[in-house]
Amino acid sequence: MKGKFIVFEGIDGSGKTTQINQLSKWLISNHLIPENNQLVITREPGGTELGQSIRSLLLDTSRDKNKSPDSITELLLYAADRSQHVNEIIRPTLNKGDWVISDRFCGSTLAYQGYGRKLDIKLIKNLETIATQGISPDITFLLDIPVEESIKRRMNRKDDRIEKEGREFLLNVSLGFQALSMDSKWKKISAINSKETIISEIQSEIKKLLKNK
Ligand SMILES: Nc1ncnc2c1ncn2[C@@H]1O[C@H](COP(=O)(O)OP(=O)(O)OP(=O)(O)O)[C@@H](O)[C@H]1O
Ligand SMILES: [Mg+2]
Repeated sequence: MKGKFIVFEGIDGSGKTTQINQLSKWLISNHLIPENNQLVITREPGGTELGQSIRSLLLDTSRDKNKSPDSITELLLYAADRSQHVNEIIRPTLNKGDWVISDRFCGSTLAYQGYGRKLDIKLIKNLETIATQGISPDITFLLDIPVEESIKRRMNRKDDRIEKEGREFLLNVSLGFQALSMDSKWKKISAINSKETIISEIQSEIKKLLKNK
C-alpha cells in the first residue's frame, strides 16, 4: 500500500517548520502512521545529499549578483533538486507504505519562479511533470500570512538569496500561493492565528484525509 504524501507551502517565515514538527509529533503519538511504517520528514531544496549542494548553489548570498543563477538557471536547479528528491526519497518511501512530509514542493516553484520571477507557467508545469513523474501530494497545506508578518517574523534571521528579493517579490509569491490554493488538494490555513489553533486545523484535515482513504 502507498503511504501518504503531505506538503507544507507558504512564504518565508509562515510557520512551515514549526507546524511540521507539531504534526509529526501528533501523528506519531496518536499512532496514525500504520504499524511497521515510518514517517520521513524532508524538504526542498536539499532533501538529498545531491540536493544539499544544489541548495547552496541556489541560496548562497556570497556571490556577486551578476554571477548568481539567472532565473532560468534557478528554475532548472529547482527541477534538478526535485527530480533527485522524488527518485531517491519520496517515491521509494511512499512505495514502502511510509509517510512523507515535505517542507515545500512543486507549489513553491510555481509561486516563486512563476508568480515571483514571472517565468512562463506552462514551462514550469512541463518541468514539474518531468521532475515528479506522476508523484503528487495527497494534501498540501498553505500557511497563509501577510507579507508584513513574514518580514517581522524573520527580522532576527539572516536572509538567504531568495529572501533578499524584498517585499514586492514576496507579495507576488504570496498572490501565487493564494491562486494555487484554489485547488481541491490544497488547504489554506490562516497562519496568523496561534500555533495551537493552526495545528488543530491541520489535525482535523488529516483526520478527514484518513477517513476518505
Ligand atoms: N502561529 C505563529 N504565531 C507567531 N509566531 C509564529 C507562529 N508560527 C511560527 N512562528 C514563529 O515565526 C518564525 C518562523 O517560523 P518557522 O521557522 O516555522 O517558519 P518557516 O515557514 O519554516 O520559515 P522558512 O521559510 O524561513 O523556513 C519562528 O520564530 C516561529 O517561532
Ligand atoms: Mg522553515
